[in-house]
Amino acid sequence: MKLKMKKEFLKIIAAIVFIFLCAQPHDAQTISSPDRKMKLNFKLNPAGELFYSLSFNRSSVIKSSKLGIELKNDSGFINGFTLKSADTSTFYEEWQPVWGEENVIVNNYTELRVSLVQKQKSNRRMNIVFRLFNDGLGLRYEFPRQENLTYFTVSEEKTEFNLTGDHKTFWIPGDYDSQEYTYTTSKLSEIDAAIGNNFSEIGVKSFGPSNMVQTPLMLTTDEGLYINIHEASLLDYPAMYLVVNKKDYSLTTTLCPDALGNKAYLQTPFQTPWRTIIVSNKAENILASRTILNLNEPCTFDDVSWIKPQKYIGIWWGMHVGVNTWNYADETNIKLNLVDWSKLIPNGIHGATTGNTKRYIDFAAEHGFDGVLVEGWNVGWEDWFGAWKEEVFDFVTPYPDFDIDELNSYSKQKGVKLIMHHETSASVTNYERRMDEAFRLMKKYGYDAVKTGYVGRIIPRGEHHDGQWMVNHYTRVLEKAAEYKISIDSHESVRLTGLHRTYPNWIAAEAARGNEFNAWSSGNPPEHETILPFTRLMGGPMDYTPGIFQIKMDYYKPGSDMQVHTTLAKQLALYVTMYSPLQMAADLIENYERFPDAFNFIKEVPVDWSETKILDAEPGDYIVTARKDKHSNNWFIGAITDEENREFELPLSFLNDGNYNCTFYQDSDNAHWKDNPMSYLIETRVVTKNDSIKLKLANGGGCAVVLKPM
Ligand code: NOJ
Ligand code: CA
Repeated sequence: MKLKMKKEFLKIIAAIVFIFLCAQPHDAQTISSPDRKMKLNFKLNPAGELFYSLSFNRSSVIKSSKLGIELKNDSGFINGFTLKSADTSTFYEEWQPVWGEENVIVNNYTELRVSLVQKQKSNRRMNIVFRLFNDGLGLRYEFPRQENLTYFTVSEEKTEFNLTGDHKTFWIPGDYDSQEYTYTTSKLSEIDAAIGNNFSEIGVKSFGPSNMVQTPLMLTTDEGLYINIHEASLLDYPAMYLVVNKKDYSLTTTLCPDALGNKAYLQTPFQTPWRTIIVSNKAENILASRTILNLNEPCTFDDVSWIKPQKYIGIWWGMHVGVNTWNYADETNIKLNLVDWSKLIPNGIHGATTGNTKRYIDFAAEHGFDGVLVEGWNVGWEDWFGAWKEEVFDFVTPYPDFDIDELNSYSKQKGVKLIMHHETSASVTNYERRMDEAFRLMKKYGYDAVKTGYVGRIIPRGEHHDGQWMVNHYTRVLEKAAEYKISIDSHESVRLTGLHRTYPNWIAAEAARGNEFNAWSSGNPPEHETILPFTRLMGGPMDYTPGIFQIKMDYYKPGSDMQVHTTLAKQLALYVTMYSPLQMAADLIENYERFPDAFNFIKEVPVDWSETKILDAEPGDYIVTARKDKHSNNWFIGAITDEENREFELPLSFLNDGNYNCTFYQDSDNAHWKDNPMSYLIETRVVTKNDSIKLKLANGGGCAVVLKPM
């Protein structure tokens, strides 16, 4: 070949190679968040393994970390991938939640969707979708409909979060059946989930390895970053836990097993829940993040007008402090279908009597509460816990001293709704069989909401509260309840993952250690409520049941050293710092009657908001939150602290022009969660947006503030 021809030929070859390279997606992809502060990188290595990394303001948050899913009897979706395509797009929307912490939520992200093929595996396909928000990342696996993959069993998910150091971590032990632990704050390398064994007050515990913890996991770094790891849109898949490698500070997902030890049974097309990493250099932004909510699908209900945020009281705390019982008679060895309930001898302290319920309805009507929860209204409580038996409750038969007919017409007259209670005792097969009839009974009598409960070991035996089977159960309940226009407040269910965007009738859940533990155990330390919003509440609202005024339990049980580990004023502040559209005034009527001026705050505080401002926060230390009522121009501030006393100076620049009447419900000077918890002061003065207010919080204390335009 002549030299000139050779040159031309080489040029053509080079051009072809160049065109080919351009058409081939690169094995590394980078996207930025809309504000460009967060960067996500995705990479394939020569072995076809998948990696991602994440940075914020140029500092690494997640170092190169592996992605993948192991399958049963198969080499899985771990390696051997080639990149088929990589598509980037941006998304912006504003949407209005049915209820929430604000009227409008902005959903804005950059998306990268990588389509991958396993050529050695008959061209099996999997996509990974990354959504990068200004405050975090969501990533999920997708299995499109395809010829060579239909049904498959997941044996483990292997998503890694390779952290940059031995961060401070707020954790509870990994447990497939309970989240009702207090938090431990330690370095990652110091995590020892075996301390879960010390929690003898928790009914059912099923631990994984001692380096396994639950999500939402909150971390803070020496460089001042706040990182929260959780999941969004947990549907048809088990809950995720994190296994900590204490040497290199990497976390790896592990999923809740089923009765056979498998993790998930999937069928294409399928998409996993999102794995979420929220990041900021300000703690306040973690609490203000709506990324988990945004990663959930919009609600498709035609009508949502029946879903009502509400405040309620109930026949409840009396059982927890031991002055009442759920059960009607003191019997044991009960067979549900063989008992003549009218022949049992009442024990005299049954809480859910017609008379007592009327008293609660009257009190609710007088003080403007929407609902009255009644626990222990239905037969079966004599013998409900511990035996792992299947037929415990039928959810439709009232005790002889509870006149359901009369009480529901009485409550109607008074403009109050009774709230139903379905304790399933974790016999979920039994509940599924009876649920339709139970919901029909509710509708017959005009109940709009039910508190469900899952205390005990799950039936089907061998399943766990957090497994795929139970996750599907919770979803079935939500969907069935929606058909009946019923809202759900689930206790002992899997922790929330923002699904209330899709199912706004999931108005709250417990799924963490609630206030009730203060009634009958070593309780919740003063820092507990400063951690919960950074952990459990990242996924959605909690029915924490605040508002306990009688702090020390020796009032009920002489000699008891149990108590609520806060001041009375802090119990008020919790209505603002712990967001929920369903809030209980949890104490006994008698105790509210002893402190009518403090009770005024509970009467006034709303449960639905048009604006929220996290004014100051540090996990484990304090939270100061301001919220504006959805239905008025009133603002409410809640400030809480851990065992330290603190002062806050708060500029009121978020107010409108004009004078506001400002009422403080605060700890008195000598208040202290342990030594003097019930001492408070109420003060009122006039302020404007140019003022600052000073809040003084006692050790374990709090302050609640109401600001009303004059
Ligand atoms: C545990 C729930 O959290 C509590 O609120 C309820 O009273 C009991 N179970 C009985 O159902
Ligand atoms: Ca509970």
